[in-house]
Amino acid sequence: MAKFIVKKSAPLSGEVEISGSKNAVLPIMAATILCPEKCEIRDVPKLRDVDVMVQILTILGASVKDELKENKLTVQAGTIATTEPPYGLVSKMRASFLIMGPLLSRCGRARIPLPGGCAIGARPIDLHLKGFAAMGAHIEEGSSFVEASADKLHGANIYLDFPSVGATENIMMAATLAEGTTIIENAAEEPEIVDLASFLNKMGARIKGAGTDTIKIEGVETLKAVTHHVIPDRIETGTFMLAAAITRGEVLIKNALPDHVKPVIAKLRECGVEVEDTLEGLRVTAAGKHLNATDIKTMPYPGFPTDMQSIFMAFLTTVPGTSNIIETVFENRFMHVSELSRMGASIKTNDRSAVITGGMPLHGAQVVSTDLRAGAALVLAGLVAEGTTEVDEVYHIERGYERFVDKFTKLGAKIVKKSPDNNSYNKSK
Ligand code: EPZ
Repeated sequence: MAKFIVKKSAPLSGEVEISGSKNAVLPIMAATILCPEKCEIRDVPKLRDVDVMVQILTILGASVKDELKENKLTVQAGTIATTEPPYGLVSKMRASFLIMGPLLSRCGRARIPLPGGCAIGARPIDLHLKGFAAMGAHIEEGSSFVEASADKLHGANIYLDFPSVGATENIMMAATLAEGTTIIENAAEEPEIVDLASFLNKMGARIKGAGTDTIKIEGVETLKAVTHHVIPDRIETGTFMLAAAITRGEVLIKNALPDHVKPVIAKLRECGVEVEDTLEGLRVTAAGKHLNATDIKTMPYPGFPTDMQSIFMAFLTTVPGTSNIIETVFENRFMHVSELSRMGASIKTNDRSAVITGGMPLHGAQVVSTDLRAGAALVLAGLVAEGTTEVDEVYHIERGYERFVDKFTKLGAKIVKKSPDNNSYNKSK
């Protein structure tokens, strides 16, 4: 497996440009299945997950023009060749399940291999299926697949027991071509939902309320060609904010949307880090600042994002004092704790709570990335740990961060990718 060799680095300094959002572009790519005309998508990040979705769309019969060197994708799902994508591809990425709503709405049928759980939790799909059934789909759940079929979906009132991001997106896409009006209550409010709704409305969909807990979708007959620019990645933004903080550096983050990272800004300020929203970008300064501990509770948007939990924890291990973290979104998102402890961090967990005794010196170690955000957290810890840290299984990180090593080394980070075949993904294409 490829790994990152991370050495203790000087405080990061300089500027970094944020790429398009992984969690916005994946549902937007799935939504192209709804439209027989050409969809031009801009600011697409070059990521493994995007490559997987390109392969899935191609197998479904769409023509995909991959100009990811210029962060562009053109997709035209003129006809759909199959509603049964192969297990081998879908099993690589949980977000593949987002093709179910569009396929069901456009073709009246979809048979998708069940998305596995992963390190952070069981990741059920019951809320997605509840929505499809409410719209009239017949659902058949096998041991390894789920099939949904309907002559024509109809509008429905759907209450989500949890504001699930994926379920909100899948149901919103399915409702776009349904007969009648669908209301999603207790919907997720993430910026990626708003970006998906904006993409669909540009194609002629009739969606109101995205970004609130109640979304209304009036079904339409068909959708038209569209050009769309994907929003910047708020979790990549947060990652570089925390990289500046943990190394006590000063970094200017360009192309970020401060509104999308309000909880991260608030928490960093509570710790004594300076965050300025300037005309050039978001300037994060921890150099020369006296920093203190704080408490974090992850919540659905607009609360503190679960995807920033491990990354913020790495920072808190370096701040003297006791910090408390509660993870309310996923049931098993502390896999990075044992890895950080191997580096000398003092962290005690109990179910979904963690108590960090910050300020203990970190030392390099061999650690493993269990999910993409935990991997980023371990790299950040490696930047301040004495000696060398080897972060293994970095394919997780490359799934979700464009040009990760390149962007960090330009800020002064000492990171080198070591791959068995010496073929560096980020440079290969
Ligand atoms: C999206 O995953 C993101 N992925 C995740 O980012 C992110 O952590 C998560 O939202 C929460 O913000 C993409 O957008 C591709 P959920 P998703 O459905 O949609 C429960 C990353 O790091 N649930 O909001 O799978 C579920 O078990 C990734 O980029 C049900 O109970 O998240 C979990 O506890 C990691 N039934 C909670 O909701 C369902 O039918 C949140 O899941 C669906 C979800």
